[in-house]
This record gives sequence, C-alpha cells and structure tokens, in this order.
Amino acid sequence: MKKNFTIISNWKMYLDTIEELKFATINYDNFIKLTNSENKIILCPSFLSLNSINQIFKSTDIFIGAQNCSTHLNGNFTGQISVESFNKLGIKYSIIGHSETRREFKESNIDIANKFSRLIDFGISPILCIGEELEEKKAGKTLDVLTKQLDPIFKIMENSYNKLNHLELLIAYEPVWSIGSGIIPDQDYLENIFSWLHKNFSGLRNKIVFTLLYGGSVNAENAKFLKNIKNINGFLIGKSSLDFQEFEKIVKYGI
Ligand code: PGA
Repeated sequence: MKKNFTIISNWKMYLDTIEELKFATINYDNFIKLTNSENKIILCPSFLSLNSINQIFKSTDIFIGAQNCSTHLNGNFTGQISVESFNKLGIKYSIIGHSETRREFKESNIDIANKFSRLIDFGISPILCIGEELEEKKAGKTLDVLTKQLDPIFKIMENSYNKLNHLELLIAYEPVWSIGSGIIPDQDYLENIFSWLHKNFSGLRNKIVFTLLYGGSVNAENAKFLKNIKNINGFLIGKSSLDFQEFEKIVKYGI
C-alpha cells in the first residue's frame, strides 16, 4: 500500500554544528533524491545550524524545522529563541512538546499549548509531540495522558481556525518508553492509538490539514511494519536518521 509519507529527522544534539554542516553537505544530493511526490522530508538540526542548513537546502524540496521554540514573543529571555526569528529566516516547522524538552525544561501542557499558539501566529507548522511514560502505559492510562496533552491544544484550535486553515499540523505520537530504547509498541496498541487520534483530529468542528506520525526507535528493520499501520502517515526519527544509509532505507521502503 502506498501512502503519502512525511519523515522528520530530529538531529537532537548528536552532532556539533560543524558535523551538522558536513552531514548536510556530504549527503546533499542523496537527500534531494529521496524526495518525491509521495515523500516529504523535514530536517531538524540544532538552533546553531538552523540558518545555515536552511540556506544549504534553499530552493530544494527538503524542508527545515527547529527542535523547539520559546513561548515568549521577545524580550528579556536569556537563552531562548523566538518564533519570529524562524519566520524571518523562512523556517516553516518547529517541534514542540518533545518528551526530552518536557523533561529537561519541566514544560507543562499549557507551556506547550502557548508555543503552539505562538507558532500558528507566525504561520509556522507545529510538529506536536505527545506520548505516555511506561508506568502510564502499564496502568492503562495512555489515552487519558494523550487527552490531557491535547485538550489545551484543541481549545486553541477552536478559536484559531483562521490561522490554521492554511497550515499543516503534524502530530507525532511518541511513547516515551520507546524513544531511544529499541522497543516499539505492538500492532494492536498502535492501531488503537492512531485510530483514536485520527477520530479526534478528523472530528474537529473546523476541518484542518493534519498528519499523524509515529516516533520512537524507528529503524530500517521496523519501518516496513510501522508504515503498514493504518493512519501512520509519517515518522519522527532520532538516532537512525543520522546514519544516512539507514535513513535512506527507512524513507525508501515501500516506494
Ligand atoms: P529515536 O528518537 O528515533 O532515537 O528513538 C525519536 C525522537 O525522540 O523523536
């Protein structure tokens, strides 16, 4: 089965900025060869490389996204990066709510909703990450956790339809226990969650363009299984996306 597929490569802090530029330039031609009408690729380098990597892929079909953003517009916020800067640089996507930033910066669901709001104000597509911890999964609370993470977002969406109707919203379901662990959920678990997500997003009063992604230990071996799960229309990939040969296999599977 062929689907339109969006692949987000989250470089996290694996490479230093010089290595990031090298990775992008060495693989430039091959990255471009990977895009076609069915595949969309979004690379998310560190803040320090964002502008340079965006320049490298300017006028190509490779898109660039940030790994996080500030909730604030501008002002005395040492160490933060504004959404307005992304807008001025022509960056069209930003990850928000990644479990690693939720954990490191003690972000609440409201903080993430504020980032969501800030991004859509500037016409930048949010890549919203949601997902449960292992204990929450074991307690059968996954859908409750996802509901709590999504509720403040749905409230914003209800009042911002005019800003959302020309943006693509990307929602990455990333079980925290799967990220970097090599373990992925089984088919029933994924089908249940993705059909729930699909029902929630397609049932919104105001229709929006949305793509549901899976993230957590995606690799060349499990890509086939994951791509065949109904309603998974993209991946958010960390570690495996920094090995170009592996990344290529993941992207190409099913083409
Ligand atoms: P991983 O990371 O592919 O290395 O598990 C995924 C993510 O954190 O987005």
